[in-house]
Amino acid sequence: MTIHSVFCLFAFGLVFAGASGETQSKPHILFLMVDQMDGRLLDDHAPQFKPPLRNLRSLAAEGAYFPQAYSSSPQCVPARSSMLTGRYPSQIKVWDNFVGIANVNGSVENVDSHCIKTFSEETCHIFARSQRVNGTFIDALATSGYNITLWGKMHAGAGLHRYQGQIEAEPWGGRRSPKAAMEWTRALGLSPSQEVPKLPTKDDLPWPATGPLDYVATRNCAELLDSGLFKSATPQFLYCSLLVPHRPFWTNSTYLAEVPDLGNYSLPHWQPKSEVHPADKYASETKNLWRVDEAAPDKVAHLRKVYFSMCIEADQLLGRIIDAFRRSSSLDDAYVIMLGDHGEHATENRMLGKNSFFEAAARVPLMVAGPGIAKGQVIPDLTSLYDIYPTILDMAGISPTGDEVGESLLPLAKDHRTKKRDFVVAEYHSVFSATGTFMIRQGNLKLITYAPLMPGAATWPSQLFDLQADPWEKENIALKSPAQVQRLLGLIRQELDMEAADAAKKMFDKEMFFYYWYLATGGAQHCLKAMRRIYPTFSPADAEKLASWLGKPCPTDIIV
Ligand SMILES: *[C@@H]1O[C@H](CO)[C@@H](O)[C@H](O)[C@H]1NC(C)=O
Ligand SMILES: *[C@@H]1O[C@H](CO)[C@@H](O)[C@H](O)[C@H]1NC(C)=O
Ligand SMILES: *[C@@H]1O[C@H](CO)[C@@H](O)[C@H](O)[C@H]1NC(C)=O
Ligand SMILES: *[C@@H]1O[C@H](CO)[C@@H](O)[C@H](O)[C@H]1NC(C)=O
Ligand SMILES: *[C@@H]1O[C@H](CO)[C@@H](O)[C@H](O)[C@H]1NC(C)=O
Repeated sequence: MTIHSVFCLFAFGLVFAGASGETQSKPHILFLMVDQMDGRLLDDHAPQFKPPLRNLRSLAAEGAYFPQAYSSSPQCVPARSSMLTGRYPSQIKVWDNFVGIANVNGSVENVDSHCIKTFSEETCHIFARSQRVNGTFIDALATSGYNITLWGKMHAGAGLHRYQGQIEAEPWGGRRSPKAAMEWTRALGLSPSQEVPKLPTKDDLPWPATGPLDYVATRNCAELLDSGLFKSATPQFLYCSLLVPHRPFWTNSTYLAEVPDLGNYSLPHWQPKSEVHPADKYASETKNLWRVDEAAPDKVAHLRKVYFSMCIEADQLLGRIIDAFRRSSSLDDAYVIMLGDHGEHATENRMLGKNSFFEAAARVPLMVAGPGIAKGQVIPDLTSLYDIYPTILDMAGISPTGDEVGESLLPLAKDHRTKKRDFVVAEYHSVFSATGTFMIRQGNLKLITYAPLMPGAATWPSQLFDLQADPWEKENIALKSPAQVQRLLGLIRQELDMEAADAAKKMFDKEMFFYYWYLATGGAQHCLKAMRRIYPTFSPADAEKLASWLGKPCPTDIIV
């Protein structure tokens, strides 16, 4: 290399640095999140009750709103982990709420310190090696020079608590709970005996959120924006994430008074029990909600009203942050993205919570505003949480690795492009699912398909819904449309190896159950007694089933 060319390189470097110093090189990003908000509540075409979510609607009007957005796995930890990594849950082996992303920024040596506290360093390394996660978009932003601040619910692991701010909910606890053991023994197909559920709600609480944490997160985010965080020359990523409208169903009379009359949405239209698909029956029974249709109608209606009032609370809390953003920042040099992790049945399909691929549980709110995004767009493409990773990288001008499942949504929001793939695929393997469950939505069709309950055992029939003709998903048209079923199954297979995914999760179930329930509760000696904590009617026949599934004894001649 000549002296001349060295000089040229040096000079070029100076010019480049000068240019990037004068203009804001990378846009700020405000990331707003809710937990358990039914995505249909903002979609004017969805036949669902619409509580007044004024702040979210006004944010949507300032940019691009994606009404057809889906969770990639309708439960907190797998959904959030998929979103943070742009991968399907089975690709990162984050299956449930008991084991999150174990490594930190893709490192082979460094595992999440909360994971170590709950399990052990060795176990966390075992998780990390099987997950092979390369880091989250938050780490990628940090690496590219973003100042990271995280407030509120995260629930994914990956050592994200090391960033500034304060995140809540670690995905490592609860493994000694009967709920964990119920998930890990789902292959046995047992469900607890059914009572008419009590539908616990509380209202007229002075402090309506499930705790003060949402208020702490909201206040800190609003204060940071008001104090000029987004006026900084350093690119900022500010994450503000609420627990509401997640359970418990608690609210106060101020929010409750803002819910209009539910009218014909007071009660869901329940399918006759004889027509419920066995997978949905299993989910409803393991949630102890199979008999919710026998509960007093005014109690069901009230629970639904409390849920909608919690959605209003979430809207108003995010509204405080959005207002602070409007006072202090501009959509010319900052993006705002708002989304949720999964929905809430609010007694539809005889369920509460999520954990299913019915629209109530699988749809999420999603909107993006910012530089180059025209106002008032409603973008009909099907999108998923796995699209968020490439979208955030695109906002920051970071090249993706090319291995992500999803696609950046910015070309849709900025240039009226359509997505390359006109379908979304999702999977669910966690509690209240009896077996590996896969979903594809393309056009108006949604296919839900199941792995065999046990290797070589019977497989439940697939469910195919035409959401245009049948928005409440009551008529399974799979038998009438075998060609569509085969075509959609083929598309899922292009994305995922369903058999391998299900087999890997079932192995995980067995190992977790063996170490963290069977051995932890005293092994064979206490097996029957411990199983009755999960399934009160656990019988000697069930014990035989368990012994043959686990390959360990569960004697029934021990008096308990
Ligand atoms: C993440 O890992 C990459 C690759 O090892 C490294 O270059 C980068 O500095 C790390 N970033 C953070 C924020 O830890
Ligand atoms: C990074 O964010 C924090 C708030 O979490 C702020 O106090 C700090 O000044 C920011 N630092 C830079 C370099 O932007
Ligand atoms: C309900 O909670 C909100 C937010 O904390 C509060 O502003 C309002 O006064 C509360 N209403 C009642 C009746 O306590
Ligand atoms: C309520 O009525 C509206 C308008 O008639 C209809 O679209 C919707 O499906 C009904 N909802 C329920 C739960 O029956
Ligand atoms: C993860 O990192 C490896 C090694 O750098 C790379 O080959 C692979 O493409 C990355 N995968 C993803 C999904 O980013």
